Amino acid sequence: KKVVLAYSGGVDTSVCIPYLKHEWGVEQVVALAADLGQGEDLEAVRQKALASGADQAIVQDARDQFVFDYAFAALQANALYEGRYPLATALARPLIARLLVQCAHAVGADGVAHGCTGKGNDQVRFDVSIAALDPRLKVLAPAREWGMSREETIAYGERYGIPAPVKKKSPYSIDFNLLGRSIECGILEDPWAEPPEEVYAMTRPINQTPEEPTYVEIDFERGIPVSLDANPLEPVKLVSELNRLAGDNGVGRIDMVENRLVGIKSREIYECPAGVVLVLAHQALEALTLPREVTNYKRGIEDTYAQLVYNGLWYSPLRGALDSFIDFTQKRVSGTIRVRLHRGTATVVGRRSTYSLYDPDLATYSEGDSFDHRAAEGFIYVWGLPTRVWARLDNP
Ligand code: ARG
Ligand code: SIN
Repeated sequence: KKVVLAYSGGVDTSVCIPYLKHEWGVEQVVALAADLGQGEDLEAVRQKALASGADQAIVQDARDQFVFDYAFAALQANALYEGRYPLATALARPLIARLLVQCAHAVGADGVAHGCTGKGNDQVRFDVSIAALDPRLKVLAPAREWGMSREETIAYGERYGIPAPVKKKSPYSIDFNLLGRSIECGILEDPWAEPPEEVYAMTRPINQTPEEPTYVEIDFERGIPVSLDANPLEPVKLVSELNRLAGDNGVGRIDMVENRLVGIKSREIYECPAGVVLVLAHQALEALTLPREVTNYKRGIEDTYAQLVYNGLWYSPLRGALDSFIDFTQKRVSGTIRVRLHRGTATVVGRRSTYSLYDPDLATYSEGDSFDHRAAEGFIYVWGLPTRVWARLDNP
């Protein structure tokens, strides 16, 4: 038996290697680490996989694909889970699943494996995505079944030469990619406890942000961000640069209690500097360029979309259908949004577009007003008719 394992370099995925071989009789383990812009030394991660007993270890750069096909698709949908979380971890899972399946086909593996626990969302996203891409592949999830505590996992690893984590004390579980960081565990499990400053890595605390605001102009074409301050940038560069600008101003911290798919309420800390700013700017451009009815209807689509991504249904017919709707709405979502970053806040302060539906002659209260005020009377008569009929009767 040959298995491709989604490998991150952490304790759990490292221990998966000897576990698959010694407890589950897997003959060959191919470790696959995806570069999603987590900024780690992935050659070191690759070496660690080999040191942990992997027969082969592969690093795959999937940053372009991640940003363009996953993050920007979600951006066009303004996808925020429960109104706040830009889905950085959730969007990475279906892509990693795709890489696993492609690799399994390439190396002739009969199964794929991941190190997710049985309490989380990630296992669902992996398993369902893999099933959607190749239902014949077996999915192995050792950490879901081994029933070892974190200490026991570390001890098990040490028996097979896997060193305990350097920062044994770091109590946090962290997932990291270009779109952001997700931090849980440790003191954060107390929803009353303020997150200690040490959990953050992409954003500065307010007292270390610049006194003066930073302004950034984001150009969009059909709902896709294409340049910052009029400099055209590739998707990966654009997101990295915006992470830096927003993070330096303390923008992008999210502290929330969310509902996991498995029914557990969970306290999560996120840092998504670029994600937060891009959704804000994209919404502002839509406000300028989309008709009221489309915006209102799209809001419902967006919420469904965010839930679908969160709940592991990326490769579903529903997403295809929603994407068709969203694509159509983005045709005129082109233009520029000016954002002010300051002391932890991001504020839209300017917008313009060749497709702007904003008509100054209609909007103005000054000279040049072209709106026919007398037309309002008849409109209000008809609009208010049902209200007047209702109000004629006494309440029971
Ligand atoms: N709760 C977030 C989500 O479901 C973050 C999960 C973090 N995952 C992790 N392996 N630390 O998307
Ligand atoms: C895990 O349990 O593997 C991480 C947390 C999550 O998936 O939500």
